[in-house]
Amino acid sequence: MPAVKGLEGVVAADTKMSYIDGEKGVLEYVGIPIGQLAEHSTFEETVFLLWNGRLPKKDELASFGVEIRKRYELPAGMEQRLLALPRDAKPMHMIRTMVSALSMHDQNPDANDPASLRDKALNILARVPTLLAYFHRYRSGMPLVRPDGKLGIAENFLYMLNGEMPKPTMAKAMDVCLVLHADHGLNNSTFTARVMMSTQSDMYSAITAAIGSLKGPLHGGANEGVMVMLNEIPSVEAAEKHVLDKLAKKDKIMGFGHRIYKSYDPRATHLQVLAKDLAAETGNTGLFDKSKRIEEVMATAVAAKGIYPNVDFYSATTYHCIGLPLDMFTPVFVIARAGGWAGHVIEQMSDNRLFRPDVDYKGPHEVKYTPMSAR
Ligand code: SDX
Repeated sequence: MPAVKGLEGVVAADTKMSYIDGEKGVLEYVGIPIGQLAEHSTFEETVFLLWNGRLPKKDELASFGVEIRKRYELPAGMEQRLLALPRDAKPMHMIRTMVSALSMHDQNPDANDPASLRDKALNILARVPTLLAYFHRYRSGMPLVRPDGKLGIAENFLYMLNGEMPKPTMAKAMDVCLVLHADHGLNNSTFTARVMMSTQSDMYSAITAAIGSLKGPLHGGANEGVMVMLNEIPSVEAAEKHVLDKLAKKDKIMGFGHRIYKSYDPRATHLQVLAKDLAAETGNTGLFDKSKRIEEVMATAVAAKGIYPNVDFYSATTYHCIGLPLDMFTPVFVIARAGGWAGHVIEQMSDNRLFRPDVDYKGPHEVKYTPMSAR
């Protein structure tokens, strides 16, 4: 049987967490349209929803927040390990390495019962922001800023990163971005986590592998690629030529296209509004105007192919306006998607079957071994 390249269109797992209709541009988390969650929910509440299949009651959300926030600090020894890393290490390489290192501070790293998996998921969800913020302060020669247990994940991350409380609009924008990025069906990094977990490995290995996948420019790395493109284009007027020249060379325009969405990515709809508002608030309207111009050019040039902005296109401007360093854009995707990945790892273990697809062998058969003297 011929290979299905990229497993395109192959249904490889069940999930109750996120539903995508690529033709209609629909994304729901446990049936709730993503727009309603972006408008009314928080990242912690969204993770509770993904992990438990329902929204929390008020006291449940409060205790879930306590469970997360008491784990913000790193285990003893992790900070020293972090501060021994090369200052010029890339944040995605750092977080892939340090999430793996967290397993060595877990008394029972290979335990895969539901309670243990949830405990590890909380460790990772709570500590990824701390690791990223600490590393950024360390590489910048600035003192570490300890986590504040009164703050939610988004606000606390910006506080630890910048050493000051974020403006409410920035904290809210960060939180909405985490909600929008939390889960998305069987994308490559989520599939990676499930494949890894299907051998009954462990949560830390699965999330480490997923980070490696997300790093790729065709996946989570695209948001940084969008920002590089926006910085390359000197003006709104120059956008059309820049894009058309890239298309003529068959280059991919970062932040556009999707394996599932053949219509507007519903997350991009919300991120566009966020980008516009924050660009106006921070004096970055040029970035937003360039983005809109690129979208217009692409709509004319390739929309017929079903290529529209995806989640990464407007998140680049949003993250820049929030004040994130460029190489922290994809790591922020890790903060959010750790919630989805962990949920999928737990789902995989609840009804596991080892992933082991077949391969279409294209080589020769029954070849005689040639001794070295005859080669
Ligand atoms: C994410 O899976 C998920 O859910 C991922 C994600 C999530 O939340 O987890 O949504 C997050 O990863 C979003 C995608 C971020 N990546 C990028 O923005 C990188 C740029 N996009 C492309 O590389 C591409 O669109 C993919 C990888 C996202 C999807 O590619 P496919 O499904 O393999 O499609 P393809 O490469 O076969 O393209 C089909 C056609 C080709 O043209 P033809 O050869 O048929 O003439 O569309 C063209 C492609 O050249 N095309 C593009 C394009 N994307 C597709 N042309 C220009 N620019 C693009 N971005």
